[in-house]
Amino acid sequence: MRFVGGKRWFLAPLLLALVFVQGFGTADSSLNYTNYRQVSTMRLERIQRHLDKINKPPVMTIESPDGDIIDCVHKRKQPALDHPLLRNHKIQRGPPERPRVKMLKEDDDHRANKSGAADEGVMRGSWQMWHRNGTRCPRGTIPIRRSQVHDVLRSKSLFDFGKKKASVSLARRKDAPDVVSANGHEHAIAYTGSSQEVYGAKATINVWDPIHPSGQRVQSIPDMVALGIIRRLRSQQHRSWVAGQSGALWVAIGAAISPVSSYTGNQYDISILIWKDPKLGNWWMSFGDNTLVGYWPAELFTHLADHATMVEWGGEVVNSRASGEHTSTQMGSGHFAEDGFGKASYFRNLEIVDSDNSLSSVQSISALAENTNCYNIKSSYNNEWGTHFYYGGPGRNPQCP
Ligand SMILES: *[C@@H]1O[C@H](CO)[C@@H](O)[C@H](O)[C@H]1NC(C)=O
Ligand SMILES: *[C@@H]1O[C@H](CO)[C@@H](O)[C@H](O)[C@H]1NC(C)=O
Ligand SMILES: *[C@@H]1O[C@H](CO)[C@@H](O)[C@H](O)[C@H]1NC(C)=O
Repeated sequence: MRFVGGKRWFLAPLLLALVFVQGFGTADSSLNYTNYRQVSTMRLERIQRHLDKINKPPVMTIESPDGDIIDCVHKRKQPALDHPLLRNHKIQRGPPERPRVKMLKEDDDHRANKSGAADEGVMRGSWQMWHRNGTRCPRGTIPIRRSQVHDVLRSKSLFDFGKKKASVSLARRKDAPDVVSANGHEHAIAYTGSSQEVYGAKATINVWDPIHPSGQRVQSIPDMVALGIIRRLRSQQHRSWVAGQSGALWVAIGAAISPVSSYTGNQYDISILIWKDPKLGNWWMSFGDNTLVGYWPAELFTHLADHATMVEWGGEVVNSRASGEHTSTQMGSGHFAEDGFGKASYFRNLEIVDSDNSLSSVQSISALAENTNCYNIKSSYNNEWGTHFYYGGPGRNPQCP
């Protein structure tokens, strides 16, 4: 999910360019584990110094079965508060005003039948892998996935670590999606028209673990959310600029979602809502039905407009053609859109928040895929899933050499 403002933020102050790329997102295929072994000791030391700076001393540590380490960090010590604009930030206590659900009479009936046929086969309650440890972070602390040396080695440089490249599409038409198709970035995205003011968006996203050639996990949805958004706002690096809500939080930014869907098997999805608190101007994110993850404080948005004009949902993969061939990084489930439910990945019930803080179903969307032999997208509408789409693909294949 990516919010686009009317103009580029570096051209005009009146702009909000929030990025929330669905997480099977950007992965570079040029790295492999052989490369890792060639890293010099000096570089490793430099990386370690950087990590010591960004990983805050934990009150407690939880080991996730997938190897991630989740640090429980006091909420006042969280890395987000290192941001120069947040020096004097007071962590929000009360929850923000949530968007109201705008329902037509007809919608009401459909919602009442929500547990009906179209939803069959979808399992609820996809959650994070580290929860399986059984331990929670103590009150007053927030769970943060610890950044480790291999996370940095995965990005091209320490400088690139934790940043998502801002798209610089100066020639973009107002009604065209804001994507960089150059430099090997490939997309399969759906986007709204540009004629409205957008104060937030919601979607329910099918969770998969797509395969990357190096065997790395490329899932991590909320991670991309946080990175992307902040990256756009203030070219500052950091992996978790989301200020945590007070109390025990059950979502670690960057940690894997679990369980994941399986081919023709159980399907899991999660709902993510991002919206602007109309009173205080913070941009909030909630996960699942009611879990507040945190917010991007209004201070970060000083030079930006108060709303977006377009929302994009979908996948992005970086195809660096390191070996002269297309990357075999999968998008979505690794299957093309036409394979449909249980095989291809989906985004469903696409909704946007309007100026009076109400959520309504997206009426029409456009779709973009640069190279449909590698990744594609098919959007549709029905009563249960509202506006929705299937998307993805395997990357390299005989039609996508
Ligand atoms: C990994 O990188 C090394 C060094 O660049 C290269 O020789 C090797 O073929 C690569 N392996 C794979 C599986 O791409
Ligand atoms: C949970 O995390 C603790 C602390 O890191 C670790 O000692 C323990 O083995 C973990 N338990 C499970 C079931 O993974
Ligand atoms: C919802 O379900 C009820 C009872 O099962 C049915 O009468 C009604 O027509 C359904 N509404 C829609 C919009 O499908």
